[in-house]
Amino acid sequence: MPSTIVIFGASGDLTGRKLVPALYRLHRKGRLPEGTRVLGFSRTAMDDEAWRARLSTAAKEQLGGDFSQEVWREFAKNVHYHAGDIERAEDFAALKSHVEKLEAGQMATRVFYLATGPEFFEKATGGLGGAGLNGVGQAGGETAAPRIVIEKPFGSDLASAQRLNAVVHEFFHERQVFRIDHYLGKETVQNILVLRFANAIFEPIWNRRYIDHVQITAAEEGDVGRRGAYYDAAGVLRDMFQNHLMQLLCVTAMEPPSRFEAGAVRNEKVKVLDTIRPFTPEEAARFTFRAQYEGYRKHERVANDSQTATFAAVRLGVDNWRWQGVPFYLRSGKAMDCRSTQIMIQFRQPPHLLFASRQESAIQPNRLVIQIQPAEGIYLQLQSKVPDAGMKVRTTELDFRFCERRLPEAYERLLLDVLSGDASLFARADEVELSWRIIDPIARAWEEQGVPPLHIYERGTWGPAECGAWMAQDGREWLDVCPVLH
Ligand code: BG6
Repeated sequence: MPSTIVIFGASGDLTGRKLVPALYRLHRKGRLPEGTRVLGFSRTAMDDEAWRARLSTAAKEQLGGDFSQEVWREFAKNVHYHAGDIERAEDFAALKSHVEKLEAGQMATRVFYLATGPEFFEKATGGLGGAGLNGVGQAGGETAAPRIVIEKPFGSDLASAQRLNAVVHEFFHERQVFRIDHYLGKETVQNILVLRFANAIFEPIWNRRYIDHVQITAAEEGDVGRRGAYYDAAGVLRDMFQNHLMQLLCVTAMEPPSRFEAGAVRNEKVKVLDTIRPFTPEEAARFTFRAQYEGYRKHERVANDSQTATFAAVRLGVDNWRWQGVPFYLRSGKAMDCRSTQIMIQFRQPPHLLFASRQESAIQPNRLVIQIQPAEGIYLQLQSKVPDAGMKVRTTELDFRFCERRLPEAYERLLLDVLSGDASLFARADEVELSWRIIDPIARAWEEQGVPPLHIYERGTWGPAECGAWMAQDGREWLDVCPVLH
């Protein structure tokens, strides 16, 4: 069945940088259902041609050598524009007529993509419902029910997420709702599930008996740039931890679902979040670390006495049989040494160190590193014998790289899943709320009690040295290694 994809926030950054390039690539690969059309909605007065011209400039910039003028021309024939205001009910009525005109009486799967700022999510949802574009109970049944895609951030704390969920549920059934976390669209994140559940060798050792701890790092080289106004209110905790890092933790820690189906997968993720006990204020002071890079306060629209953290580390415990006593260290920051998102599983030392006395330095425990990006792949650190050197041992690596020339962008996979109605890689209402339940007490300790203290770090580093000391209190160290790009 053809689809009609309506994008709210058509003149915004996300649309030009991510959504339209992803749709173009899908079109080029022949993956979009025949007859799929895109309709942009925003306040800017423009006609179809003007919007197409804007998008073409943005797409060229994003796609580089992948952009073909000829393919774009074909794709752009199905790209349309509707000027309107999310605040006005009559603009939704006009949008409805426009959609119906484009569909010309044909059945189509409608997708409403909220790529606006979060302050418009509730209004847009209400506008769609008010105009009857939510379509629940329409002829055509469940498969034809319109879908609503909601970008991040989904709320700024538990109360606002609950409010937004309530508004969304007033007009849409949960099965129509797709809350985006683009990390779940990354090939390497999905590969964690394949690694764990399509190989028999990992599952038996994936537990407290063999694993000492887990480190999940999302380091970014880039700084806050021109996003000062948003970032200064959000900070690293809301920008990266509540969504992306929690999702990485869930796929690492979850039990095998009975099948790869939205309900089963999301039930298992929810169970993980449910086992993480929210911190008391004392625990938040002890088990979290926060810092800000030098010069952050000089960004446009950032307060000159801002206490917003651009770097944080959090130690969480997953209180169940599999993970009892295994700390999960989550860490993320901007303006760091390099871009590297990785999950490191550190195994325990062998119970008896036969060769230890013959070594110049301590024998390293085994580490499995899942490199999410860049240099996408997996490597396993093993100990092996140094040839012709007695029983001297050294660390070697079994290294696997995805060698495809270009991995698909997360948005390609996610958009296709929305079109086919598969919500496995999207966050469910309870998942988002449980995640906020863990984040809220940390945010309160930082923002209301001012603990732990805010450290300052130099740009281009792995965060302040104090973070290494914070980790050393547990007798552990961070894996600060930049991926080698070939
Ligand atoms: C976004 C955050 O959700 O994720 C950004 O708002 C961050 O601040 C980005 O830079 C990171 O995504 P990726 O795919 O580049 O790792």
